[in-house]
Amino acid sequence: MRYGHFDDETREYVITTPHTPAPWINYLGSQNFFSLISHLGGGYSFYRDARMRRLTRYRYNNIPSDAGGRYFYVHDGGDVWTPTWLPVKADLDHFETRHGLGYTRITGERGGLRVEQLHFVPVDTDAEVARVTVTNTSDAVKTPALFSFVEFALWNAQDDQTNYQRNLSIGEVEVEQDGPYGSAVYHRTEYRERRDHFAVHAVNARAEGFDTDRDTFVGPYNGLGEAAVPHAGTSAGSVASGWYPIGSLCVRPTLAPGESATYTFVLGYLENPDDAKWADDAHQVVNKARAHALLARFASTEQTDAAFADLQRYWTGLLSTYSVSSTDPRLDRMVNIWNQYQCMVTFNMSRSASYFETGIGRGMGFRDSTQDLLGFVHLIPERARERILDIAATQLPDGSAYHQYQPLTKRGNHDLGSGFNDDPMWLVAGVAAYLKETGDLAILDEQVPFDNDDALAAPLFEHLTRSFRFVTENLGPHGLPLIGRADWNDCLNLNCFSTEPGESFQTTENQAGGVAESLFIATQFVLYGEQYAQIAERHGLADVAAAAREDVQRMRDAVLEHGWDGRWFLRAYDYYGHKVGTDEDSEGKIWIEPQGFAVMAGIGTDRPADGGPSVAETALESVHELLATPHGLVLQHPAYTTYRIELGEVSTYPPGYKENGGIFCHNNPWVIIGETVLGHGARAFDYYRRIAPAYREEISEVHRQEPYVYAQMIAGKEAVRHGEAKNSWLTGTAAWNFVAVSQHLLGIRPDWDGLVVDPRIGPDVPEFRVRRVIRGATYEITVHNTGADGATARLTVDGSPVEGTTVPYAPAGSVVRVAAVV
Ligand code: GLC
Ligand code: GLC
Repeated sequence: MRYGHFDDETREYVITTPHTPAPWINYLGSQNFFSLISHLGGGYSFYRDARMRRLTRYRYNNIPSDAGGRYFYVHDGGDVWTPTWLPVKADLDHFETRHGLGYTRITGERGGLRVEQLHFVPVDTDAEVARVTVTNTSDAVKTPALFSFVEFALWNAQDDQTNYQRNLSIGEVEVEQDGPYGSAVYHRTEYRERRDHFAVHAVNARAEGFDTDRDTFVGPYNGLGEAAVPHAGTSAGSVASGWYPIGSLCVRPTLAPGESATYTFVLGYLENPDDAKWADDAHQVVNKARAHALLARFASTEQTDAAFADLQRYWTGLLSTYSVSSTDPRLDRMVNIWNQYQCMVTFNMSRSASYFETGIGRGMGFRDSTQDLLGFVHLIPERARERILDIAATQLPDGSAYHQYQPLTKRGNHDLGSGFNDDPMWLVAGVAAYLKETGDLAILDEQVPFDNDDALAAPLFEHLTRSFRFVTENLGPHGLPLIGRADWNDCLNLNCFSTEPGESFQTTENQAGGVAESLFIATQFVLYGEQYAQIAERHGLADVAAAAREDVQRMRDAVLEHGWDGRWFLRAYDYYGHKVGTDEDSEGKIWIEPQGFAVMAGIGTDRPADGGPSVAETALESVHELLATPHGLVLQHPAYTTYRIELGEVSTYPPGYKENGGIFCHNNPWVIIGETVLGHGARAFDYYRRIAPAYREEISEVHRQEPYVYAQMIAGKEAVRHGEAKNSWLTGTAAWNFVAVSQHLLGIRPDWDGLVVDPRIGPDVPEFRVRRVIRGATYEITVHNTGADGATARLTVDGSPVEGTTVPYAPAGSVVRVAAVV
């Protein structure tokens, strides 16, 4: 069952009913100002950092759900309703939400009045703009009142939800009904003291009324659905002093039959320099010059429309770097639109703010953001470069890393600290991807601090070396890497031994001196250790490269000698040196992570002399047999049914959820890529389609989350609700699936000296064309594909056959035509 449809022409998902199984959201903004917006207008806005600079309020965990957002109440001759359906929930004659690239358009119609709200964050603008068009579809004159509503958060989102004894006395606003561009409410809580920022909520017309005090607007003991002012039909002119500041402005157009009125509402973030905070120091009146400059840019509908057109051009430009045209519309829409879009969102948000992440708990993750680069680097390489330098600056001198850092300060988060021993090598992964995309070897010479301390600065290449050495200097008894607090799997906490409810599994080590080892980090080291060697070579350090390769070879040997269980790779050795992920155990016999990663790293891919299956083939056969479900590949099998103190958080989840046997979509592409390494395109594409949201649209009542973006997890086979997704949007699944589909299934990937064209997608996509722009040149690639297992492409470049599957990089500005036959 579906709740809408894709509109590929406009690059939108069109939701045709308010009654989706969960709020289906979108993100506005891709630079500094961000908003979350659900198909019902819910969500919130923040500037750069969802924790430290929250503009508006949203209530997680609320009843009813999706509470808090930007709303427009209509009062039409006594009939009160909201075009977003929520919060009033009056029946609508027509409802539609179109989530597009950086914008959301919501239309509601009732009783002969149609309201269309177009929300977006314009390029290079620290504001959410809403173009609201009210149309009289009846045959009588109407004079409806429209009341906007936003509820301000007091900036620090954590404090905003906890420190009421202070907060309920500090709220301050200013109102400007006769401003130069219409009317505005300014939210200036704490501006009188240490803050240099304030917010503005404005409309480009003189509002007939305003409210800034929530209790007045809503009315005591009311919910937003019963808000008093919209029901009364006139603003109360309330001025907040403490309690709960809001912004509400009222306009009342007179509309002949068929006539429309259009307004632009703005919610903006402004900063003033210290010496220009006040327009009137004595009376502490905020200097609004910058706010007026912002509002001047949206003074007319034409200006707003032009800003919207800019945003659309911006996205068209970004998405022109990689696009496919095939016989499978679902593949095309994932690759061309939604997967790349989600990569932008994960790049911006890391794992901070979604409907499953409060924006308070997590900043930017070291491992998360480095992996996000893999799916983002082709979109805006300059921003990837900046991100690499920011992340590397939080690395600690011994090569380990703060697990998270706060985007506003770009400093490592001390609460969480370090000790996730997979973190260091992800930096190598991100840098390698950046170098292959751009050829910008100069980045390796950039001076980058350790631990944000300039005195400790060293060239970026030195950071990679410390990452590499961190692994080789922290090996356990089998010559495999020590796991520390966890590896990629946050919930495999082999030194934790927690009996205390609520104790953090990630930051607690109750038993010191552990020798627990991770096969995941071992396979990760083989893959990215080799890339480190390749970087060293290109950096002119052949001896460093050669020495690194010896370490990598030792690790390969250790994996095959101590990491093979007979039918698959082990997952770990625990604190006591016992195997984790072995057939000898009754549960958690086989885990997905090392299988996919080992094969991606080319471990055990050689066929034995007798021609039987390779170790790699055996491992992935076991994955197929034991981990595959119609909804994707589960993380391990069987899921744990009891708490195993020596394993940590992983066994705390009920069977089938999250890291305990859930379909953790982030690691599925490792197996997909692994299958392509083995030449099994058909199976790889089959796995791809099991989790790719566009292919799951038809079962939206089972999947329940947005059909246009990946979710972190789909409940696994032992779960009560097998097939149900959770934690949509902010997940490494986005980047990794884009890598899997664009670079390995479709097979077009940047290498050091050229673009590789090596499709392995099986027979279901017999023909396709890819357009790839890289290093300024455009490659027009046409593929005729039998999809036979093990087949390798034969290439013709500009009419001449070439050896191998690499098309040498052409000078910027050139167009290269490649024909591939597989
Ligand atoms: C979450 C975390 C990620 C981790 C994964 C597996 O997605 O953001 O860092 O690797 O869970 O535990
Ligand atoms: C990751 C895991 C989650 C775990 C959390 C701890 O997000 O997915 O299950 O609880 O990390 O930080």
